[in-house]
Amino acid sequence: QRISAWQDFARRLAHEIKNPLTPIQLAAQELDETYDGENEAYRKKLEHARAIIEEEVATLRRLVGEFSSFAKLPRADLSPSDLCDLAHGIQDAVPAILEDVGRGTPAPVEVRVTCATEPIRVRMDPMMLKRGVDNLLRNAIQSVYEAHPSGGGEVLVRAYRTEASGFIEVRDNGPGISRENWDRVFDPYYTTKTEGTGLGLAIVKKVVLEHGGQVRLDRAPEGGARFSIELPLMDSP
Ligand SMILES: Nc1ncnc2c1ncn2[C@@H]1O[C@H](COP(=O)(O)OP(=O)(O)OP(=O)(O)O)[C@@H](O)[C@H]1O
Ligand SMILES: [Mg+2]
Repeated sequence: QRISAWQDFARRLAHEIKNPLTPIQLAAQELDETYDGENEAYRKKLEHARAIIEEEVATLRRLVGEFSSFAKLPRADLSPSDLCDLAHGIQDAVPAILEDVGRGTPAPVEVRVTCATEPIRVRMDPMMLKRGVDNLLRNAIQSVYEAHPSGGGEVLVRAYRTEASGFIEVRDNGPGISRENWDRVFDPYYTTKTEGTGLGLAIVKKVVLEHGGQVRLDRAPEGGARFSIELPLMDSP
């Protein structure tokens, strides 16, 4: 399958990048620490170069960490659960995500989470699916916050059901995604953000497929993006 070929690639890439990092860092330390010349300006230059190398090595290590956690994404462990419980769990996570996106002060974005009063019974791995919906919510908040930095951004997370399926959708009033990119956004490493890894939606897709479900993207009634996850309903008990 396409996603698991990417996972394999991520694993190998992570490995190839990780191995040389320690020797690079040690070599930079060595150069800096063993200089015993008199040239003060040169000693400063060495220190500066070492700091840059160490910082960039740390960044690469973090990136490699992301790659390998994508490569190691576990198999879903499915059990009967209620999509509304998932929605409530997401509700609890909202303040922390707003704080994260606003870098310490909560981003002024209005987030509503709704669910039907009746349980929506599906088979799911609650932790993995929550991770997926969390990624969708984070994306939505980031994009409306960027579009409306001083308020006015709105995100709706809604769980509902039809005859045969349970749904959880995340939609926003941000800039949306142009139609020609609707497929690409799910590709691993596709990102338009300076600090993005582009793995968020690839993880969502993988998680949803493991649930025997589907994830779709279209335009939200509010004008932004709408991502909806569809899961088969369990037969009534
Ligand atoms: N709600 C949204 N509104 C507008 N664009 C979106 C939205 N969600 C995703 N995108 C687009 O899809 C791209 C891929 O999203 P994805 O979550 O996979 O990676 P990312 O958010 O860029 O990086 P990361 O998730 O690692 O922080 C984003 O860079 C953005 O361009
Ligand atoms: Mg993301």
